[in-house]
Amino acid sequence: MVNVGLVGLGYWGPNLLRNLVTNRRAGRVVICDRDEGRLNRIGERFPNCERTLSFSEMVNSRDVDAVLIATDVSAHYPLAMEALAAGKHVFVEKPFADTAEKAGEMADKADSLGLVNMVGHTFLYSPPVIAIKGIVDSGELGDIRFITSNRVNLGLHQKDVSVIWDLAPHDFSMIFHWLDAEPTFVEAFGSGYVIEGIPDVAFVNLRFPCGAIANVQVSWLAPSKLRKTVIVGSRKMLVYDDTEPYEKVKIYDKGVDVIEPETFGEYHLAYRTGDIHSPKLDSFEPLAVEMEEFLRCIETGSTPKTSGRSGLGVVRALELADASLASGR
Ligand SMILES: NC(=O)c1ccc[n+]([C@@H]2O[C@H](COP(=O)([O-])OP(=O)(O)OC[C@H]3O[C@@H](n4cnc5c(N)ncnc54)[C@H](O)[C@@H]3O)[C@@H](O)[C@H]2O)c1
Repeated sequence: MVNVGLVGLGYWGPNLLRNLVTNRRAGRVVICDRDEGRLNRIGERFPNCERTLSFSEMVNSRDVDAVLIATDVSAHYPLAMEALAAGKHVFVEKPFADTAEKAGEMADKADSLGLVNMVGHTFLYSPPVIAIKGIVDSGELGDIRFITSNRVNLGLHQKDVSVIWDLAPHDFSMIFHWLDAEPTFVEAFGSGYVIEGIPDVAFVNLRFPCGAIANVQVSWLAPSKLRKTVIVGSRKMLVYDDTEPYEKVKIYDKGVDVIEPETFGEYHLAYRTGDIHSPKLDSFEPLAVEMEEFLRCIETGSTPKTSGRSGLGVVRALELADASLASGR
């Protein structure tokens, strides 16, 4: 059994907590928030959890083996470094840190101490994203040519991070995972229309070593919720619509083949439109699997699918997107 401490009981922390307390690998659970009202409100819903206002007290307790951090992004690095210095395994919500330098330091320190470090890229534990990874790896789509992704809604404007840092970690983590690669080129275009200086709409272009390109659109300013990803391969195409209650993933047997010319310059194009297939997906809560992965890796000494290093890769791309926004390049 792993004894855990969770800091940050705002919007997201209670979702982690709900899945921690029901996990058979979790022993003692301590919860922490510097906001006393919030700590007590959540504490009443989870009466078996011990409560503390002091992160240092929690992290230095001998009865805590691992710490989960679900605070605002700016606190991820100082809290994670304090937990690692106290010899605790760490789970840090996405984005892993607010700079690539800090993310690298966190991953290096954890690895050098032999401690599990994991980032909350929750989508990588969701049934459609797992199924798509299997489909891409099987070669069914052929070579991946491009990916487009829309994550827009009339969303909650954050005061400390741009829409890129808030929403793009989801798309970046999925695309990097499917392609098993990080981008070699990042370019962003965006604007802040509601709060000056905080971009609330952004279009990010990426290029990968395999030749695939991607376009990720994120916004808190849109009339309806879109969560749609299209993957175009040399053999087939795939659409993942996370707003669909059923049939979230559809594979289209569509494409264009170039017929070799019989005489120089007389090539033909053959358009293919075949069947549309929607694979049956498993049904489980991604967060439950994410918590299981963290606790299992601590017990077995394995590396999580969403390790701190993968968190670093995403932060690196976020930072490059910011730099591109600032410089216009
Ligand atoms: N994985 C996902 O799908 C997902 C979804 C939403 C949010 N998140 C991430 O979760 C994190 C938290 O987001 P949120 O929307 O819940 O934020 P929030 O502002 O609602 O809550 C943050 C909480 O942390 C507490 N806190 C901050 N610093 C502290 C400290 N030093 N000691 C004790 N308590 C402290 C605050 O009092 C607050 O209660 C962010 O990193 C966010 O990106 C992840």
